[in-house]
Amino acid sequence: MARFAYVNGRYVPHADAAVHVEDRGYQFADGVYEVVAIQNGRLVDEEGHIDRLDRSLRELSITWPMTRRALGLVMRQLIARNRVENGLVYLQITRGVAARDFKFPKGVKPSIVMTTKRMSFGPAVTVSAGVKVITLPDIRWKRRDIKSVSLLPQVLGKQKAVEAGAFEGWQVDEEGYVTEGCSSNAWIVTKDGKLVTRNATSSILNGITRQTLLRIAAQEGIEFEERPFTVEEAYEAREAFISSATTYAIPIAQIDDRIIANGHPGTLTMKLRQLYIDYANGVEPAVRSTGTGSGAG
Ligand code: PDD
Repeated sequence: MARFAYVNGRYVPHADAAVHVEDRGYQFADGVYEVVAIQNGRLVDEEGHIDRLDRSLRELSITWPMTRRALGLVMRQLIARNRVENGLVYLQITRGVAARDFKFPKGVKPSIVMTTKRMSFGPAVTVSAGVKVITLPDIRWKRRDIKSVSLLPQVLGKQKAVEAGAFEGWQVDEEGYVTEGCSSNAWIVTKDGKLVTRNATSSILNGITRQTLLRIAAQEGIEFEERPFTVEEAYEAREAFISSATTYAIPIAQIDDRIIANGHPGTLTMKLRQLYIDYANGVEPAVRSTGTGSGAG
């Protein structure tokens, strides 16, 4: 089946989709992106992702290539053309095409490309066994709150993780605190049962999945703290997990050479994962509120 990509106003066969060699995304990583999950044909957390896209664009003074409404229509059209039931939409906007020169070019239209991918959110085996993460120094720039296409440190980090037999790399700041994964946010449940994830400053990307999980936790009466935690605290945690649009919440069984608790997916992690899946399916909290406890542990 032919797959399509959207490139600057046109739906083109995926194999022929291309941008100009002088696109500033290609030359300077001068652009931003979003990844939105599709579950059972629905876009998950669409508004949050598009709000963050708007913020990333504004922070870099890149203009919108189309209206927000048009963007929503293009996403839906591409999903329909590619017949994606479960997967993701990738969209990227760069400052545009201009002769290579560091300063912003004048009178250039931003470029937009969009692709889709079919996938499931955390293969069953990964979720039921829990994954391994390794820790790495965070070598990124200081504006990690912008979802920029400049991802070289994360590419290197992820490769190191894979070479160590791990699923993700947790980046660690100079004080020994975990910032986030290479493409996910980092969470622990402390020994006394408190859910912890780093507060959203410019030191991390404020994950949309992260924000929804916190909202769900609040609705369910699950206690949480938004604060940095150290690698040592994570080693000693009762549970640990990662979150992103492409994984939802996935339990961690091992960090570096340390097994987390008994090495099995944590109860609270699995509960949050299920609640997020329900949310992605459009199940309202009131409908699913049967017998949910405090969730600690
Ligand atoms: N990455 N932190 C980083 C550095 C990320 O790259 C991502 C997402 C997240 C989680 O954000 P969200 O919940 O909004 O997906 C946190 C996407 C999935 C990617 O680059 O493929």
